[in-house]
Amino acid sequence: MNYSDLAPPYIRAIAPYQPGKPIAELERELGISGIVKLASNENPLGCSSLAVAAMQEAIKTIALYPDGNGFELKDALSKRYRVAHANIVLGNGSNDLLELAARAFLTVGDKAVYSAHAFAVYPLATQAVGATGISVPAINFGHDLQAMRKAAVAQQAKLIFVANPNNPTGTFLGAAELLDFLRALPTNILVVLDEAYNEYLPESCRYDSVSWMKEFPNLIISRTFSKAFGLAGLRVGYALAHEQVADMLNRVRQPFNVNSVAQAAAVAALQDEDFVRRTNALNQCGMEQITAGLKRLGLEYIPSYGNFIAFRIGDGLKMYRRLLELGVIVRPVSSYDMPEYLRVSIGTENENEKFLAALQQAIEESK
Ligand SMILES: Cc1ncc(COP(=O)(O)O)c(C=O)c1O
Repeated sequence: MNYSDLAPPYIRAIAPYQPGKPIAELERELGISGIVKLASNENPLGCSSLAVAAMQEAIKTIALYPDGNGFELKDALSKRYRVAHANIVLGNGSNDLLELAARAFLTVGDKAVYSAHAFAVYPLATQAVGATGISVPAINFGHDLQAMRKAAVAQQAKLIFVANPNNPTGTFLGAAELLDFLRALPTNILVVLDEAYNEYLPESCRYDSVSWMKEFPNLIISRTFSKAFGLAGLRVGYALAHEQVADMLNRVRQPFNVNSVAQAAAVAALQDEDFVRRTNALNQCGMEQITAGLKRLGLEYIPSYGNFIAFRIGDGLKMYRRLLELGVIVRPVSSYDMPEYLRVSIGTENENEKFLAALQQAIEESK
């Protein structure tokens, strides 16, 4: 008996998500230590000390179930963004919210639109509910919003995923472009605007998508505590949406999808604006350091607005393996139809230096 035959064909067709390699696994495999991991867009500064203190406090009541409504966290978000609790959905990472959106609104025969080279979870979440994903060709690796809108309308899609900035390309859509897209789109098509890297945007690129919710009831904004807030291991994110949309997402989520430690840490992390500022400053310096290094090595890269950057190296997988042996974990992106590229997360100055030195060595060896 082949048990995979019991699963519906659309589940069997899912290509498993490839997570970044954990440091401990690689150290075991290669018998080396001091490995630098720049593969999962994590925060090299760790997280806020306020969040650490809140976690320690929350651990004391770990025998109890978490607040299934996430009152404190919703309250903090509601004050920050001036939205009602009814407009907020909490998730086990923002990944959860992307899946909840697919589960709440899509079924077999429905369609969702996303861009080529867009975050891998959009096709995964779409396929997991038996819906059909429509991948729209990108322009210079960025989303072609007009083509995405046209495809969605022509094919009667229910949902469009837009990543801003996108992972793994780091490409960014400005407020005017997004607004033109939303204004031209029929309001019966939902838009998930995935802003996982929002806090990394430079001042000049910032926009207030939350204020757009009044004009666009079809807009679902998703954000996370995994990136600039440094809480990736806890798994906590949130969506802001029209209350009817939020209600549907809440109906399909697990009652206790966000654990109590994560809720407490997220509330504290939100208050620590200085930590996010320091994160941003470090990221900006690191981005300059890495782009300068890539230029020195004569490598092409895609200008990035996140805490990572994709660069062109030829045989991405081969270079990924060589960098592993040299003690640096980056992310191959061949599954994003970018086999000639690798993605590296921005680390501390030392980590970035180690990455650039390893890259230089690997390039010289291959000459
Ligand atoms: C564009 C984008 N959206 C969402 C996520 C999901 O992150 P999390 O589930 O940790 O919030 C990621 C993580 O890499 C991402 O790159």
